Amino acid sequence: MAKVLQLTLAVIKPDAVAHPLMLEALHQRILDNSFVIVRCKDLVWRRQDSERFYAEHSGRFFYQRLVEFMSSGPMRAYVLAREDAIRHWRDLMGPTKVFRARHTSPASIRAQFGLTDTRNTTHGSDSVESAEREIRFFFPEFYVEDWMKKEEPLFR
Ligand code: TYD
Ligand code: MG
Repeated sequence: MAKVLQLTLAVIKPDAVAHPLMLEALHQRILDNSFVIVRCKDLVWRRQDSERFYAEHSGRFFYQRLVEFMSSGPMRAYVLAREDAIRHWRDLMGPTKVFRARHTSPASIRAQFGLTDTRNTTHGSDSVESAEREIRFFFPEFYVEDWMKKEEPLFR
């Protein structure tokens, strides 16, 4: 049966980018898990980018801390492709909260590299809808439809 190609957005957050060895290890983790790197860029958010991206969490107790942290330094964003990319990347990251990650998924990225629930090293889209929105947010110049038409047959 044909494998269905899926795209996801993965982000290496400022805490992890600040440590070159961690950044390298996470990049390698992507390559080791059969993802194709479709797009990759380093960027820094202004506070309002951070607020807009995480608007769904406004009002939560961690919101201010989160938007502050996410605009505190360079990040690296990827568009990744493989079959079931969204679930595979979420599984690799592990649970949001570092303590839980260490407890339930000790081999996951957040268990191994996460510092706190906020400084938890990575982001990954959690659904097809959020992947579309988030890829557009980070890569407005990337035309998914055109790319799919050209490249998708390679994944069948
Ligand atoms: P969320 O979307 O729940 O997690 P995920 O990144 O796994 O999709 O939350 C978004 C980010 O908000 C999360 O990566 C880190 C931060 N956050 C906290 O700082 N404390 C918390 O208790 C939670 C739930 C999230
Ligand atoms: Mg989320």
